[in-house]
Amino acid sequence: MSCTSLVFRRPIPDDWERVMAVLPSWWDGRDLRALLPRVFFEHFRGTSLLVEHEDALVAFFVGFFCGDHQDEACVHFVGVAPEWRRVGLASDLYRRFFALARTNGRSVVRAVTAPVDTGSVAFHTALGFSLLPGDAEVDGVPVTLDQAAPQGRHLVRFQLFLEPEVLS
Ligand SMILES: CC(C)(COP(=O)(O)OP(=O)(O)OC[C@H]1O[C@@H](n2cnc3c(N)ncnc32)[C@H](O)[C@@H]1OP(=O)(O)O)[C@@H](O)C(=O)NCCC(=O)NCCS
Repeated sequence: MSCTSLVFRRPIPDDWERVMAVLPSWWDGRDLRALLPRVFFEHFRGTSLLVEHEDALVAFFVGFFCGDHQDEACVHFVGVAPEWRRVGLASDLYRRFFALARTNGRSVVRAVTAPVDTGSVAFHTALGFSLLPGDAEVDGVPVTLDQAAPQGRHLVRFQLFLEPEVLS
């Protein structure tokens, strides 16, 4: 991905409102804002990124390094503005996170998505992530039930081992 007019930067806490403002429309009207509280923009800035084009928000990435498992890095949320999709922006954000994770001694990256986000399932698979087993299946995809929240917030879980070639 090369577009010189794009600015990649670490988020600040005040960016949270901007992300909240776009999140439902970027997720096709689904309101997932409760899954991304402001605390992520206060305590995981160093492992998160925002992308702007002429001051407009075009993508964001929220990740963190797992505290209990020193070899793991986790992707919590990623979103790309609909008009900026399929140009490699999310792949770029993930690769930057992979590089940072390796520098930090992490060898495994985990990510999640909702089963209804079939584009996200395809994206993670295209990037080389494996699907982790769940306790049910939705359209042939393994899901972990009630993982994001009780009563039906199921998640598809992914895992990728950071081999050296992933970083190239
Ligand atoms: C999923 C999402 C982050 C992908 O972002 P993106 O910048 O468009 O992804 P990329 O351009 O890096 O895609 C890389 C590859 O992934 C695959 N891919 C990405 N989106 C896809 C889709 N909707 N359907 C099928 N394959 C897809 C393709 O193989 C693509 O390569 P190609 O364009 O050369 O065919 C974006 O569609 C999005 O923000 N969706 C809504 C929010 C969401 O579901 N977030 C993820 C869960 S938190």
